Amino acid sequence: MSEYRLVVTTILGLEELLKREIEELIPSSQVSVSIGGRIEVACKNLPSCIKTIIDKSRLAEHVYLQVWRYCGEISPEQLSSIFAPAIEKIKEFMWRGVKFAVKSEHTDDFRVSSLEISKIIGELIEKRYHYLDPVVSLDFPDLVFYVFISSKRAELSIQLTKYRPLHERGYRIYVHPSVLNPIVANALLYLCDCRSLLDPFTGSGTIPIEADELDLKVGFDVNIKHVIGAKKNAKAAGSLADFMVADVRFPPLRPGVFDAIVSNPPYGLREKPVGGLRRVYDGLFCLASSVLKRNGIICIVTVRRRLVKQLAEKYGFNITRSIKIYQGGLTSYIFRLCRNLF
Ligand SMILES: C[S@@+](CC[C@H](N)C(=O)[O-])C[C@H]1O[C@@H](n2cnc3c(N)ncnc32)[C@H](O)[C@@H]1O
Repeated sequence: MSEYRLVVTTILGLEELLKREIEELIPSSQVSVSIGGRIEVACKNLPSCIKTIIDKSRLAEHVYLQVWRYCGEISPEQLSSIFAPAIEKIKEFMWRGVKFAVKSEHTDDFRVSSLEISKIIGELIEKRYHYLDPVVSLDFPDLVFYVFISSKRAELSIQLTKYRPLHERGYRIYVHPSVLNPIVANALLYLCDCRSLLDPFTGSGTIPIEADELDLKVGFDVNIKHVIGAKKNAKAAGSLADFMVADVRFPPLRPGVFDAIVSNPPYGLREKPVGGLRRVYDGLFCLASSVLKRNGIICIVTVRRRLVKQLAEKYGFNITRSIKIYQGGLTSYIFRLCRNLF
């Protein structure tokens, strides 16, 4: 194993799925779930692991090279002394005139602001490597150092995805007001493992477009503006997904066609369900009862936990997986449901 580990981040709650994905992509790696939407990856061939994760992971957001970590009690007053060995460790990454930035994250139990942490670590780096004239540059840094700290753990890493997070997509010509993070779309797809899917609340088409390897992917939405946008996005992505305008309460589809319904229904918070929340969710389950094949599944992300449980019972579906995730300041739930065949 290399002396360094990788830290790979994702959406809070999806760590276990990301771990499974990385283990499948790099079978020789050793992966452990860390805290706060992060996993750690130890592997023999670091450059090849980095390339594989950046090229192929669909659940990763950022990749970091962890150069130092410390486990033990940490108080804010000890910050500089605890990080002294970390600053020594980065020597091999520094060069004359290097432009650098320090990004910090901390858990709630460590009561120093991220800004203050970045400032302290930045000053330590400047002082230690003054003979190299390092320059702090927040806009165009050559190196982005990433500090993660809790009251029991500290880490210093180098961000390998400094220009853009891995979930950013070049195909977004049309941006839906409640666009789904592609990482969540891929988590849904990962859980349903199907060949054909229907997304009845497709918006800008994120789910069918992300499902590029499937044989059949169809999305519909009640709002024609979103459907036109989804078509533009699919064209930009080179996707073969099909889109149409329809209302989930009156679906124009033949029965028994799809392996899965994979969707991000409106929550009724920012995005209003056309026809009312209960009728729209009822429509979703009624649609699933008809268009899914006998052993078809539903995979959705929503905040409407209670409603999903009620409707699952009404329509004879079992919840086989539920994952609580946290994104955009909101707690939501991923549900995987199978038809109760007995
Ligand atoms: C949360 S958004 C989906 C966003 C989408 N996943 C994306 O990434 O762009 C929910 C969508 O449901 C649609 N919607 C609301 N009521 C509907 C209904 N009765 N039938 C079908 N679609 C509906 C809205 O127009 C909205 O685009």
